[in-house]
Amino acid sequence: MSKIEKPKVQYQNLDKSRLLEQLDEDIQELNQLKQKIKQLEEKKENKEQQLQELEKAATPVPSVLVNATYREYRQYDLAYDRVKQFYKEQHEFQTVAYNIQARINFKTKIRDRMTIWDALLKLNNLLDESDPDTELSQIEHALQTAEAIRKDNKPRWFQLVGLIHDLGKLLYFYDSKGQWDVVGDTFPVGCRFSTKIIHYEFFKANPDYNNPLYNTKYGIYSPHCGLENVMLSWGHDEYMYHLAKEQSRLPPQALAMIRYHSFYPWHQEGAYKYLMNERDEEMLRAVKEFNPYDLYSKTDKKCDIDEVKDYYLELIDEFFPKKVIDF
Ligand SMILES: [Fe+2]
Ligand SMILES: [Fe+2]
Repeated sequence: MSKIEKPKVQYQNLDKSRLLEQLDEDIQELNQLKQKIKQLEEKKENKEQQLQELEKAATPVPSVLVNATYREYRQYDLAYDRVKQFYKEQHEFQTVAYNIQARINFKTKIRDRMTIWDALLKLNNLLDESDPDTELSQIEHALQTAEAIRKDNKPRWFQLVGLIHDLGKLLYFYDSKGQWDVVGDTFPVGCRFSTKIIHYEFFKANPDYNNPLYNTKYGIYSPHCGLENVMLSWGHDEYMYHLAKEQSRLPPQALAMIRYHSFYPWHQEGAYKYLMNERDEEMLRAVKEFNPYDLYSKTDKKCDIDEVKDYYLELIDEFFPKKVIDF
């Protein structure tokens, strides 16, 4: 019996990591396309319809959209269904109750102990060995993001953010319930969901949507209480933010970049301004500065890990003095 079951579990794991990789790429791609279209036609609300029209159109792609290739639109179509299914789950399950429980789990347990570098390797192995065709491995994305930031002579802490911003995806192999509590755009829970959140319509299945405690403009928060006091949907961003906040010397801007990098409704769509305090304005600028490196640093030129390893080991030590980190 166990002889039959063992490989089955392995295959399940392979599928699981492959799915997360694929989905994560799709979500990134969607965010890239959304930004491109937004830059080109700021005021047009219905981006999805715009894409469909483009698809159908026999006329040449308008020159304003020249940066977005036809191939990208095809990929958007394919990615779209997977992403839609993902957000259907995420928006239903990310409740206040779930988020409180996720934070209790986080605080009451140490899942692993290792250095930041070993964690990067671990994430890389877990997610990528299952799928050799993945466009860009986790460590490549981490290094390319960091290297692009370094090339622009940004501060050392900023470079480190590039390296570790997605490290929280390790959560997927610890105690996540699915993909919906690891990746995807993030948003506040405990107050009314903004219509600017991608696939807002799926929130109707979330129990909090009809809960009078949580469905008013401010819900459990107060005007301009500061995002620091707002509970954002649990995922790799929140997880890594809490780790870094407690165990690193990274400055507040760096922590904001980690925490809010998937908070697209806020940093790209301008939602939830009424929860921001003065300090958040500065954080918003930091997150906006980081975002292009996350979305557009992808290149075909692979980083030579051995060549840059010493540089990043030193950088990690500078901001994570404890060396061995509780994950
Ligand atoms: Fe991320
Ligand atoms: Fe990323």
